[in-house]
This record gives sequence, structure tokens and C-alpha cells, in this order.
Amino acid sequence: MFLDFVAGWFSHDLAIDLGTANTLVYGRGRGLICSEPSVVAITSDNAGQSGQRVRAVGHEAKEMLGRTPGTIQAIRPIKDGVIADFEITEAMLRYFIQRAHNRGTLVRPRIVICVPPCITSVEKRAVRESALSAGAREVYLIEEPMAAAIGAGLDVTAPQGNMVVDIGGGTTDVAVISLSGIVTSRSIRVGGDKMDEAIINYIKRKYNMLIGERTAEAVKIDIGAAATHSKAATQEVKGRDLIAGIPKVIVATSDEIRESLVEPIHAIVETVHLTLEKTPPELAADIVDRGIMLVGGGSLLRDLDQVLRQETKLPILRSEDPYTAVVHGAGKALDNLGLLREVSLQ
Ligand SMILES: Nc1ncnc2c1ncn2[C@@H]1O[C@H](COP(=O)(O)OP(=O)(O)OP(=O)(O)O)[C@@H](O)[C@H]1O
Ligand SMILES: [Mg+2]
Repeated sequence: MFLDFVAGWFSHDLAIDLGTANTLVYGRGRGLICSEPSVVAITSDNAGQSGQRVRAVGHEAKEMLGRTPGTIQAIRPIKDGVIADFEITEAMLRYFIQRAHNRGTLVRPRIVICVPPCITSVEKRAVRESALSAGAREVYLIEEPMAAAIGAGLDVTAPQGNMVVDIGGGTTDVAVISLSGIVTSRSIRVGGDKMDEAIINYIKRKYNMLIGERTAEAVKIDIGAAATHSKAATQEVKGRDLIAGIPKVIVATSDEIRESLVEPIHAIVETVHLTLEKTPPELAADIVDRGIMLVGGGSLLRDLDQVLRQETKLPILRSEDPYTAVVHGAGKALDNLGLLREVSLQ
């Protein structure tokens, strides 16, 4: 116990939100240390698995997405909210932990990692082992919606219902939390990535033009919206003409982009409805009073809150910083060991 206390004093404990799109690291007593895309670039020049070498992680690797020559591969190791490539995920974790960990201290850090609510026990073990082998002393796992709720300032330990909707890159997680536990939750593999895909497909169908993932994301962020009455705007979009095979530029309107996003947005609204249907009545009554808390980068889509308000007739709140709610929640749990033990997974 005493040793534990001393170790806690000297180590630099970390909270990590391992997201599909972005990985964020929070250091105890230091705040947010880094926020980088969850992308790893590897070179495989010495043929075979063992020849793989991590060439870049984060921003630098994201720049390479869709622009790599044959010998370099830019990989997003977490797809649809689940770990698709364990080796690369471990390499990424190691990179972030080593970068955040103060080399001056000998004590290895205690690490809290946020995981999707639907994580299997095999995946849980894999995440734990990756973090341990990447240098952790102790590993705690917290479900992302729980961390998000703590980060958004909700009192998760109280006997009252709180609904959190986390629209990330890979998944949208909807959860109702009460008494430090998740009472009902639902996840769909629809989030920012599916919105980008929908834009790519729309432009392909309508203009016979192929655009890249990064271009689609930029269009979504700049002129994308969820509702019809959003302010009209246009934007030049560059890609490759599928028939002539040469580069091409079109001007897309916000109406077109809204139209292309109808399906993913409908899926998100439906998931909120289905979760509400499964919510015990006392907790549902709490949600009527307290509303729904939106977090995650995808929740920044223009007018998405309005659409949800219209569809559910409930108050919709947006967390102050939707990108960092999860990692800040995990960070708060790191500061309060009692809370951490209560909300973390076994
Ligand atoms: N202004 C914006 N409008 C619409 N979408 C946005 C905006 N800003 C960011 N996004 C989208 O938010 C997504 C990233 O959100 P976030 O960082 O919360 O995901 P994540 O936590 O990495 O993913 P997950 O939780 O699914 O693992 C990306 O798809 C990005 O395009
Ligand atoms: Mg997330």
C-alpha cells in the first residue's frame, strides 16, 4: 500500500483515449500531453512481417495516407472502433507512452486506457498486454462512454440517469449511466468515417469522380451539415475523373453534402431512439430533465444537435470540448483512485 503510494508519487501516470481517428494522452498533473491521429506508417523493405519498421506515427503518418509508394504503408490500426491490427496498435501505444513518459523517473506509469463498451474479453486482454509490454506498471480499462460522462462533468456515481452519445471516427456509442455503471448501451459502426465514405460515394455517383478520404473529411468539416436549413455554402473539390482518368475539380454545395449524409445521420438518430426504448422508466424520466450529452468529434457536424433535438424532443447538450471529453474523464479518474476502481472494468 505504502509502496503503491510512493510509486504513484514518482511516476507520471497516464490516461489514453485510443480512438479510431485520434489518440489522446493525458498526464497526471500535466494535463493533455498529446493529441495525434491514430495512424502508423510502416516500411516493409526487408520483405516479411519481421522486416516491418515503424517509420512515423501520428500527424506525420496521416500526411502519408493515400500518398505512399509501394514500400511504405500508412495504417489505421483501429477500425470501426475495434483493434484491427494488434501489432501496429502496440507499436503505436509504445510510441505514445514513451513520448509521454518522463525518462527521468524510474517508476513505470499507471495507465488508464479507454476502450469501446462492446469490447470482448480477448480484446481486453490484448489491450492490457500491449500496455504492459509498452511499459505500464498497472493498467486500468474504462469504457469510453463512462469516461466521456465523467469528462463532460456528469455525476456518474449518483443514482440518476445520464445519457451520453459519443460520435467518434469509427463508432457512435450511446449509453445510459447510473450508479457508476452502464445500464444500457448500444454501439454502431457509424461515425465520422462512414460520413466521409458517404461523401466519397455520392461524388463518385453524381460526378464520376473519385476523391480521397482526407478530401472527403475536409469537405464534411467545411460545408457538411445535418439539417436542410443550414446556411448554404459551396466548395471546390479535387479528385480524379473516373472516365477520363485525369484530375478534375468540381464545386460541391452544402445541400449535396447534406444529402449524402442522410443515411449515417439517420443511423445515429435511430440508435439513440433504440437505446431510449431500452432505458428503464425511472432513468428515462431523469433523461427528460437532464437531456442528452453529445461528445466526440462527429458531434461537431453542423446542426446535428438540432436534428437530434427535433427527433427526440429532449434537451441536447454539447460537451465543451467534444474531442477531449473522454481523455479528460479518464484523467479525472486517474486523480481519484476510488472513482477509478469503481468505474474501471475487471
Ligand atoms: N467540425 C466537424 N464536423 C464534422 N465532423 C468532424 C468535425 N471535426 C471533427 N470531425 C470528425 O470527428 C471524427 C473524430 O472524432 P473523435 O476524435 O472523437 O474520434 P475517435 O475518438 O478517434 O473515434 P472512436 O471514438 O470512434 O474510436 C472524425 O471522423 C472527424 O472527421
Ligand atoms: Mg472516441
